[in-house]
Amino acid sequence: MESFNLEKIPNQKGRIAIVTGANVGVGYETAIGLAKKQSKVIMACRNQQKAEKAKAAILDKVPDADLEIEILDLGNLDSVKNFASKFIEKYDRLDLLINNAGIMIPPFSKTEDGFESQMGVNYFGHFALTGKLMPHLENTENSRVVTLSSIAHRNAVIDFDNINSEQSYSKFAAYGQSKVACLMFAYELQRRLEKAGSDTISVAAHPGVSNTNLARHAPIWMKLLMPILGPFMTHSPEKAALPSLNAALGDNVRGGEYYGPTGYREMKGGPGKVSSSSYSMDTDVASRLWDVSEQLTGEKYL
Ligand SMILES: NC(=O)c1ccc[n+]([C@@H]2O[C@H](COP(=O)([O-])OP(=O)(O)OC[C@H]3O[C@@H](n4cnc5c(N)ncnc54)[C@H](OP(=O)(O)O)[C@@H]3O)[C@@H](O)[C@H]2O)c1
Repeated sequence: MESFNLEKIPNQKGRIAIVTGANVGVGYETAIGLAKKQSKVIMACRNQQKAEKAKAAILDKVPDADLEIEILDLGNLDSVKNFASKFIEKYDRLDLLINNAGIMIPPFSKTEDGFESQMGVNYFGHFALTGKLMPHLENTENSRVVTLSSIAHRNAVIDFDNINSEQSYSKFAAYGQSKVACLMFAYELQRRLEKAGSDTISVAAHPGVSNTNLARHAPIWMKLLMPILGPFMTHSPEKAALPSLNAALGDNVRGGEYYGPTGYREMKGGPGKVSSSSYSMDTDVASRLWDVSEQLTGEKYL
């Protein structure tokens, strides 16, 4: 199969995409890719100033970019609700929802709603957002939801007895849990859409390894190793955004697929279909996670 080439993707004018965390890193580069294709891009960001700065930088590179900033804090379900209400009032379609924003290995803290911060921002916030926007997605032909996971999903499990790390907190395990949750959500969403006879599809993606702000809480030894190992293990945010763009815009993409870099251990390289852990494909766990997510966020759909 021919590999993904953004240049060859048809013009997307008239289509609307939401990218969460579009002000920096992978989300910023994803927004640029979509803007180059003339899609309208809603930059769903938590900080107005940072988003304005990113919007200006994108306009420098893509002068005819059609960009809107809307404030979204995924660590606050009221903010998710307000964002979705504003969007639904303003627009009558949604072609692409890119669940990109994330945080990694911060010290323990809770979101406004009492979720452990990584589970809250990376997973529960996106679960609720997708639910709120589902009617618009389903009313738009060929719409897609792309949810970002990570190589870190591979050794991760959902600890249903400690899902918000209230009994104990391991920052790495909680990050892995949030990312396997995102992946299982993407697969389960696809199964539920199919069952409902919807033509919206759900696809997962991961960027490989890229030296972005995500690493700001990384231990010092990791930061010291980065200049040495970086060139072998990482690629630029621009390249790291290609799996998301492939999942969002690729011709032959099917619901339930997972896209990532295809080089050594999926750390870098051109985008393509990748596989995931057998745990991530466990339909019983995914269905249980969905039920728990509905209960904890109050967002019931499909
Ligand atoms: N970089 C990698 O090597 C790597 C590897 C595997 C997976 N990923 C995944 O790729 C995605 C993008 O990561 P990245 O590397 O681009 O990280 P990044 O540069 O740190 O960007 C993360 C984005 O998420 C936003 N964000 C954080 N908390 C938020 C909240 N409460 N509400 C709304 N937005 C919030 C950030 O906003 P602020 O700028 O305001 O903080 C920023 O825009 C994440 O899902 C991450 O897990 C990255």
